[in-house]
Amino acid sequence: MKMLTQIERLAERTKGFLEAEEGRRLYRLAREASRLGPCLEIGSYCGKSTLYMASGCKENDGILFSIDHHRGSEEQQPGEPYFDPDLFNPQTKEVDTFGHFRKTLRMGHLEEYVVPVVCTSFLAARAWSTPLGMVFIDGGHSLDMVRQDFQIWSQHVLPRGYLVFHDIYPDPADGGQAPYLVYQEALASGFFKIHPMTLSLGVLERNQCR
Ligand SMILES: C[S@@+](CC[C@H](N)C(=O)[O-])C[C@H]1O[C@@H](n2cnc3c(N)ncnc32)[C@H](O)[C@@H]1O
Repeated sequence: MKMLTQIERLAERTKGFLEAEEGRRLYRLAREASRLGPCLEIGSYCGKSTLYMASGCKENDGILFSIDHHRGSEEQQPGEPYFDPDLFNPQTKEVDTFGHFRKTLRMGHLEEYVVPVVCTSFLAARAWSTPLGMVFIDGGHSLDMVRQDFQIWSQHVLPRGYLVFHDIYPDPADGGQAPYLVYQEALASGFFKIHPMTLSLGVLERNQCR
C-alpha cells in the first residue's frame, strides 16, 4: 500500500486526464491482469495512467507496454480546448509529451517495468502477436480511432483478461460519445462481460470462450 501512496502523490503532480479513483482501479486491475500476461495502454500522454498501471504490473514483476506517438490528440493541438502550452515545442512547432513521460517514469522508479512504444497504435499493432492480460484504451477519442483501437487490440486480450475504456459517458451531457459507443459494441460482440465502472472507466473481462 505504501507504494501506491507514493505513486498517488506523484500522479497528483503529473499532467493528465485521470481521476485518482480511476487510477487506483487501474492499479488493481493491472496487478491482477499482469499475472496472466503483459499489460498495454494506448495513450501514455505524460504518464499519469502509466504510473498506476505500471505499479500494478511491478507487484508481479510484470511489464506494461505504453503506446503514444506523443504528438497529442486532435483536441490537444494549438487552439483546441485541451491544448497545454507547456507541452508545445517551439523549435519543432509540435506538441511533444515524450520528455514529460520519461521524467514521470524515472520519478516513479518504473523504467524497468515499462516499454514506451513511440508511434501510432496502428503501427504498433501491425506486427503484434503477444497475448495480453489487459488493454487500456485512452488514445484518440474520435469514433474511428476508438473503434480501430478496439478492433485491433481487443483480439490480443487473453481469456479472463481485461479490456478497459476511459471516458465512458452514458449521458451525452457528460462528455463525448465515441468511447461509450465502442464500449457498447464490445459488449454486443459477446466476447466480454461487464464489470462495475469506476467514474468514467468502463471495465470488461474477456470470456473464457464465446
Ligand atoms: C487523453 S490522452 C491520454 C491520457 C493519459 N492516459 C492520462 O492518464 O493522462 C490521449 C493520448 O493519446 C495519444 N494518441 C492519440 N491518438 C493516438 C494514436 N493513433 N496512436 C497513439 N497515440 C495516440 C495522444 O498523443 C495523447 O497523448
